[in-house]
Amino acid sequence: MTADLLTNRQPLRPAVYIVGAGPGDPDLLTLKAYKILSQGDVILYADSLVPPQILEAVRPDAEVIQTASKTLEEILPIMIDRVKSQQSVVRLHSGDPCLYGAVQEQMQALLAADIPIEVVPGISAFQLAAARLQVELTIPERVQTIILTRISGRTHVPEAEELSSLAAHQASLCLYLSARHIEAAQAKLLAHYPPTTQVAICFRLGWPDEQIWVVPLTEMAQTTRHQKLTRTTLYLISPALDPEQQNGRSRLYHPDHDRLFR
Ligand SMILES: C[S@@+](CC[C@H](N)C(=O)[O-])C[C@H]1O[C@@H](n2cnc3c(N)ncnc32)[C@H](O)[C@@H]1O
Repeated sequence: MTADLLTNRQPLRPAVYIVGAGPGDPDLLTLKAYKILSQGDVILYADSLVPPQILEAVRPDAEVIQTASKTLEEILPIMIDRVKSQQSVVRLHSGDPCLYGAVQEQMQALLAADIPIEVVPGISAFQLAAARLQVELTIPERVQTIILTRISGRTHVPEAEELSSLAAHQASLCLYLSARHIEAAQAKLLAHYPPTTQVAICFRLGWPDEQIWVVPLTEMAQTTRHQKLTRTTLYLISPALDPEQQNGRSRLYHPDHDRLFR
């Protein structure tokens, strides 16, 4: 069945396809992302965020453009020009494009230039982190909320979303883009999470050199510095990581639960 799905392809219409590449492992591309990637005439990607193995599916004659050193003002005319020449353009983003992908301004500029776009979701880093750790981030009676956030850096986080106020919820907190400011993040988290809270420090999930350290919150910054982590690192801070807390039971598959709600 999978072979049929892969070979049964409609030609791509000229448009910009904003595609989530997932965290790095090509097996974690969606089927749709894979199909579009293997058909696109032009592929734009930031080599600092997307590993080269993701490009294995790309046509040998496709035009591949690295964007890490380019500004939006340089990237946009390339996309617009290629679509106007009837080509399909794939703009790859790591993980899911709707998270810290700087896609909003791209989409607005493309639509303003009458360029059709299609967005294809991808698996975000926090989802692969939970899979690797074999944890559910929403354990009944323990934690039922997931927060995806970052600490203020060059991009300012609105005051109402300050890390210390989000920490007060003691939810499963997925911290993106924060390795360079990890001391400040640790101090803000310790204002509310118990010091023994387990933190998974996840470096390059899905890349060949993936590494994960699980440490108490008090060692989050020290481990980050010791391992010289500055980028492509996701922090998962959660009561769900505490081995003694993993014994909650959902009502969903309980024998007393009405099957209509499954
Ligand atoms: C520009 S953001 C892009 C996030 C992406 N859109 C996503 O959904 O995962 C880059 C940040 O995402 C996290 N990240 C993305 N891919 C990762 C990976 N493979 N392993 C660990 N962290 C990752 C890191 O916090 C990194 O600093």
